[in-house]
Amino acid sequence: MIPLDSDLILKSLDFENASIPGQKRVERYLADVRGSFADTQAFEAALARGNPLLYAVAGVEPPDGPGQLHYGLGILYPGKIGNEYYLTKGHYHSVRECAEVYIGLKGKGAMLLEDGTTGESRMVSLGEKEVVYVPGNTAHRTVNTGNEPLVYVGVYPSNAGHDYGSIAQNNFRMVIVEEGGKPVMKPRST
Ligand code: F6R
Ligand code: ZN
Repeated sequence: MIPLDSDLILKSLDFENASIPGQKRVERYLADVRGSFADTQAFEAALARGNPLLYAVAGVEPPDGPGQLHYGLGILYPGKIGNEYYLTKGHYHSVRECAEVYIGLKGKGAMLLEDGTTGESRMVSLGEKEVVYVPGNTAHRTVNTGNEPLVYVGVYPSNAGHDYGSIAQNNFRMVIVEEGGKPVMKPRST
């Protein structure tokens, strides 16, 4: 249990630096998401020009325990590889049944959800004042469909864990690309 006088009870979010004072922050650069984008040629060409920061997540992870929660502040920068929006790696939770709530704080984006059993996919808007419930057994990836950083918080059970392996191996079945100036979900192969 976390005592009420713990400094974990209240945190303030620094949108500009995508950080939470005192908490660890993970950064993912373009080179870290190799294999995620559909257009590998466009990916290699972009990487040859530079290795920008795509996103960062500052995590608040109180001690694990039954009923406990973790959360992370994410910032995903705008950009595209070919016509595919900048994205997060995406993952299942290691404990597959664990769900997650995403709360959009700033910017414009979407989540790509894929059912781990049926493979059914869904693109769901994630922007300011929007909340997305990611059911258990659902792979989830975030994309930035706007022109400014997308800032959000994800809250999940403390025992959820992250399984990146399944996505690294098979990727998502669908991609979110810009078509006619707006985000569209399409099968990866076309
Ligand atoms: C936690 C969660 C988010 C992501 C973040 C970065 O379960 O879903 O905090 O960790 O959006 O994405 P990944 O972890 O896929 O690199
Ligand atoms: Zn998650």
